[in-house]
Amino acid sequence: MPARRLPHQPPPAVELRRKYLRFRREGTLSAPQRAGRGPGRAGALVRWVDFEPETGELPAAAVAAALTQRTRLVAVTAASNLIGTRPPIAEIAAVVHAAGALLYVDGVHFTAHASVDLGALGADFFVCSPYKFLGPHCGVLAAAPGLLESIHPDKLLPSSNQVPERFELGTLPYELMAGATAAVDFLAGRGAGPTGAGTRRERLVASSIALEEYEDGLRAELERGLAALPGATVHSRAADRTPTLLVTFADRAAADASRFLGGRGILAPAGSFYALEASRHLGLRDAGGLRIGLAPYNTAGEVSRLLDSLGEFTRA
Ligand SMILES: Cc1ncc(COP(=O)(O)O)c(C=O)c1O
Repeated sequence: MPARRLPHQPPPAVELRRKYLRFRREGTLSAPQRAGRGPGRAGALVRWVDFEPETGELPAAAVAAALTQRTRLVAVTAASNLIGTRPPIAEIAAVVHAAGALLYVDGVHFTAHASVDLGALGADFFVCSPYKFLGPHCGVLAAAPGLLESIHPDKLLPSSNQVPERFELGTLPYELMAGATAAVDFLAGRGAGPTGAGTRRERLVASSIALEEYEDGLRAELERGLAALPGATVHSRAADRTPTLLVTFADRAAADASRFLGGRGILAPAGSFYALEASRHLGLRDAGGLRIGLAPYNTAGEVSRLLDSLGEFTRA
């Protein structure tokens, strides 16, 4: 058994390569990420940690209970795209690092609704997709350069072995990079005070906080209305969550609700949204529910139009 390393200290390159790619070691995934069974196929033993279906919570203690001395990597979502739960990532990071493992955080849904601070989250790897925050569809991975140096993805012989180019597929997608930068600049612009002062990071944080408050206000309004709808069940219940509400109706299919709303010019799709196992864990089988997601451009008027339409649907 190699010496345990200090918490949150990336292991040396060779060790990490052996652990991830050659030997049977353990990792942990939270339920929303089960759809991809890749780690199992690569020879890792994967343990799953379920959220509590009644509350939608994924407590750090549940993750801690699944850790063993052999755990090398824990993957967890920072926000569920099905029910909006924002698990306590910093607490999860603490238990993961105390066990000598690394934390991989799926921030795809989270980044659209919250200010991201990798240090505060304690993420060793953090991924997000700019299309979720008004940018183009491309993948973003953030990790310490030293940690990235220790990972060797399959690549074409002539392509660069430098970090981070090692992880690119070939010629860089310049138009996507320009689009992602423009999206960040646009959002940072919303956080600029009258003088426009502050670094881009400072303006981005101010903008994220303001947008989160705005979305939370709309969410509260929406939740008040949904609570008064006869026969509607809201499955988004975690204390900390994004404005992403999964709703089902007594004796009415969520897909029918979605079609009804579509006929009134309101987009609220129905399904499990790739979070199939989370949907099953909630007892919603593969059908999932009606997902109502709020974005910064939504208005109080739209929330009330949606509620009026859902009222019509439940009475129809
Ligand atoms: C939490 C979460 N993870 C991953 C994904 C997949 O992202 P992408 O389509 O960029 O691969 C999504 C997309 O909705 C998501 O919400």
